[in-house]
Amino acid sequence: MFDSGFGGLTVARALIDLLPDEDLVYVGDTGRYPYGPRDLGEVRSFAHEIAGHLIADHDVKLIVIACNTASAAALTELQAEMPIPVVGVIEPGVRSLVEATRSGHVGVIGTVGTIGSGAYQAAVAATGHDVTLSCAACPGFVEFVERGETESDQVHVLAERLLAPLREARIDTLLLGCTHYPFLARTISDVMGREVVLVDSADETAFRIRELLAELDIQNPAAIETNLDGHRSVPRHVFESSGDVELFRRLGRSMLGPELDDVRSVTWG
Ligand code: DGL
Repeated sequence: MFDSGFGGLTVARALIDLLPDEDLVYVGDTGRYPYGPRDLGEVRSFAHEIAGHLIADHDVKLIVIACNTASAAALTELQAEMPIPVVGVIEPGVRSLVEATRSGHVGVIGTVGTIGSGAYQAAVAATGHDVTLSCAACPGFVEFVERGETESDQVHVLAERLLAPLREARIDTLLLGCTHYPFLARTISDVMGREVVLVDSADETAFRIRELLAELDIQNPAAIETNLDGHRSVPRHVFESSGDVELFRRLGRSMLGPELDDVRSVTWG
């Protein structure tokens, strides 16, 4: 699994909870973070590099792009080019969105790269559901989360401004199309109104991964067999960061929990 930084840990948490017997390698590309404002072609080349590393150095059986911007930029290409299945966070999130709406007026928020790519608009259209979609890019939200400022007056003012078009569109369901936005859920909900349902892609992505592992019959044997001594083997959780490893360990652990213990440094060629 990879993300531009810490945000994808929300997906990692959901995956560890749903599939506790699976091994996980998480790459947080904090050395090149953030992806949101970057050119999509550049993000696509980062995604290629990390996917290649996961296969060559960790021999993974499935790749999860736990980043909306990287999913928007590279999912289709990686799915076509990688020798193993690749899952993104956009389709699973959209599935939750179209299932949750009652009125059919829905919204998606994300980084400039994600919204500008049109990936959410295409994914919603591909569901065939009769919904009206309003989208808004929210530059600045990620930076507030990174500073740990999730409920300040300043982030509230920014949210009022950025979310105004979605309030006018009278949506009843809003998809948080960026890994960081679940941390702003309270502020977003205050601005949008309590009656607007907020959905995110973490749980739905974990369900999709479980479905796929079962379909392909590639679940970790530890999940279906026990060792000779009758105990299940302990799953391996490896975390890598291309930036400050100690910072990743400290901040990441507060976001993910005790499974985030050992963080290794990863460098790109
Ligand atoms: N992980 C990114 C996403 O989900 C947000 C952080 C960034 O801009 O790198 O879009």
